[in-house]
Formats: sequence, structure tokens, C-alpha cells
Amino acid sequence: MSGSVREARQWQRLMELAEIGGFAVPGTEHVGVNRPCLSALDRQARRTMIGWAQEIGLAVSVDEAANLFFRREGTDPSLAPVLTGSHMDSQPEGGRFDGIWGVVAGLEALHALHDAGVQTRRAIELVAWTNEEGGRFRPGCTGSMSWSGHTDPAAFRGILDGDGIAYGDALDEQLALEADIPRRALGGRPHAYVEAHIEQGPILEAEGFDIGVVTGIQGSRWFTVTLTGETAHAGTAPLRGRKDAVQDMLRAVTALNALTADPTDTLRFTVARVEVSPNTSNSVANRATFTIDLRHPDRAVLIEKGDAILATIQAAVRDCTVEMVENFHAMPVPFDPLVTGTVAAAAAEEGLRARQIPSGAFHDAQFLVPICPTGMIFVPSRRGISHNPAEYSSPAQLAAGARVLVRTLAALAE
Ligand code: GLV
Ligand code: MN
Ligand code: MN
Repeated sequence: MSGSVREARQWQRLMELAEIGGFAVPGTEHVGVNRPCLSALDRQARRTMIGWAQEIGLAVSVDEAANLFFRREGTDPSLAPVLTGSHMDSQPEGGRFDGIWGVVAGLEALHALHDAGVQTRRAIELVAWTNEEGGRFRPGCTGSMSWSGHTDPAAFRGILDGDGIAYGDALDEQLALEADIPRRALGGRPHAYVEAHIEQGPILEAEGFDIGVVTGIQGSRWFTVTLTGETAHAGTAPLRGRKDAVQDMLRAVTALNALTADPTDTLRFTVARVEVSPNTSNSVANRATFTIDLRHPDRAVLIEKGDAILATIQAAVRDCTVEMVENFHAMPVPFDPLVTGTVAAAAAEEGLRARQIPSGAFHDAQFLVPICPTGMIFVPSRRGISHNPAEYSSPAQLAAGARVLVRTLAALAE
């Protein structure tokens, strides 16, 4: 049935979805995507997917976290289904492949089974998880965290986007606009979960591999830090005596760079979202809010470094008060040999070059690990670029990934 994967069909669907929130980058050939979760664009993309799914008779349903499911029945409906999927939201300046390919690849796999007339014993379900990226509502993975029981969904309702819209309100609006779609209960216990995704890093391409058999995902912790000082006139207020939040932010970030310095370049430390108030060039900043994204494959290091952040900032600042919240934590997870072994065997049967690889990015798959045997399939990313309009994997690379996915799903569903 992997011979029924259609490279052109999968690519055309991806390119059609990329137009929903797509934008050209002036002066380049790149097309980026800005498709925030729970937005009108998200709903348009979901309706497009639903149309394609209904053409091959998949049953559509949605849960209270707005996770969208497509089911292809098995010959024994009493058995737990095999689940595949990924996410359809993007970063604000994202590419055409992160997340959405895993959903389109799942559909391609189900379409290939349909075209080949293959009946599996277990049902196969495809899911599009809500808000994986955290680009609009921080943190990400709220759909899979709600579904898996990692976090009580009520805890996310008050999160605000940049326009002050609450996640709970955006979710209610989406569910109301999708009231025609049958509802299903949150949660479940699939037989196995496998997620196809672009690598988002440089290893597969650099080493000439077609497929990454993902061994696990490193851990992540997200923090939001707010430094509060006092605004003052930039021309008249002496430097001595100022409570300048931007200067203290620089001291804090410099100290955090020292805390997280890692000669092996394993630890990832990123400060990438900064808000300053009153945000005018001739008033001293009275407030600076910045995010921290900390990642490491070793749980002990992630805990030790993350737990040291607040004290490091407090020791570094001179004039401001410090508040910090932890928005997200996901400890490192290993994937299950049932899934990694099936993916490796599928790649070998396809005659593809595969290697084991850890994931530096987080994924919804992380939250499935406590629920059922879980794994992922990576395909190469050109120059390792991701979260960027230049993100690219070729039609042939993506078709190879879909062939491995359909073989993996079919094997797990027997
Ligand atoms: C997912 O988008 C991540 O930040 O790893
Ligand atoms: Mn992703
Ligand atoms: Mn992403």
C-alpha cells in the first residue's frame, strides 16, 4: 500500500494549505505561513482537511480542546485504534511544513490505504492537535496536554493572546463554529501513536539520510520574567538613582548566559520575546517582560538549571523587582521500541537510509508517551532551517516519509 502514496497529491495539498495564512517574503523566493491556532485561518484550513477526509469516507469528530480527529474504521472496532497526527497552527513567521506535514502525511497514508483497498484490524485515527506552537497562546501543546491529562484544560482558559483575547473564549468560539462536527470525549488510550514531522535540524540532510527514527524528545521549560522599575525622563533623570528595567534585563540575560553556558552546545537557552513599557525612546523603561526557553535532554540538568534561574536573575539585577512564572514544563521522554522498531523496519522495507535521532524541538508526541507506545518519523529539512519561511523539504522527501508512515501505521494496526 505504500505504492499508493501519491507524491503530487500530498504536495498539492500542502501547497494549498500553505496559501491559508501564506505570505511572500519580499526579495526572496520564500513563502511563509502565519496561521495562528483558533483563528479564522485555522478554521479554514481545518475545513479544507475535512473536505479531503470526507472524500475517502473518514469519520470526523472534535473534542472539547478542539483537537480534530479523522477515523478510518478497522475490521475489529472493539480494538484500540492506532493514532497519528500533528498540528496545523504555525509560528507567526513560520514555514509551510512544520506540523502541517504530519497531518497531511496522515491523510496521505489513509488515502493510500483507501486506494489500495487495505483493511486493517485496528482503526487508524488521524488527529490535528490544537495550539502546538504556542505562537498565539503560550505555552504550546495545550491541545495534547488537555487530551492526555498532563494539565487540567481549565488551567489554559485564562491565557491571553497579544490582543488580550482569552484562550478559553477563542476555544469556545471555535467549538461553536464547528458545532456541526460530531463531538467526542477528551482523552483515550490508543494502541500506539506515531507522529510524522520535518526534522527542523540539519543532521539528516548533512549525513545523507532519508528518514529519522526518533528516539525521544529533550525536555523544555518556559518561563516569563517581569522586571519592574520606574519610568523617568531620558534627558533629565541622572543615571544614578534610575530604576531602569531594560538595563536590569541586560544584566539578567548576561547572568543567565553564564548560568547556561555549555561547552558541548547541548543545552539550549533562548530569550526571544521581549516587551518593554512604556516603550518610548525618551523615557526610562519601567517594565521589561521577557521569555526564557530552556531545553536539555538530561532531566537532571533541566531541573538544576531551570531551578537556578530565579536566583540568578535576582542576584544580577540592580534596581528592579523580579517576578517570574513557569509557563510550561515537559521533561525529556524516550520513545517506545514498539514504535521505533516499526518505523525502522518500515524504512528498511522502503529501501530508505534511516538513522536514529533525538528531537530538539518539542512535539505533541511528548504528551502521548505516558498514554501509549509513542514514536516519531523525521524527514530532512533543507539546511536544518525551521520556524522560518525558508523551511523546505522536497516533494520526494515528504513522499518517502508518508510511505514509511503508512507502513508503520498498517503494521501497528495489525
Ligand atoms: C515547537 O515548535 C518547539 O518550539 O519545539
Ligand atoms: Mn511542529
Ligand atoms: Mn514549531
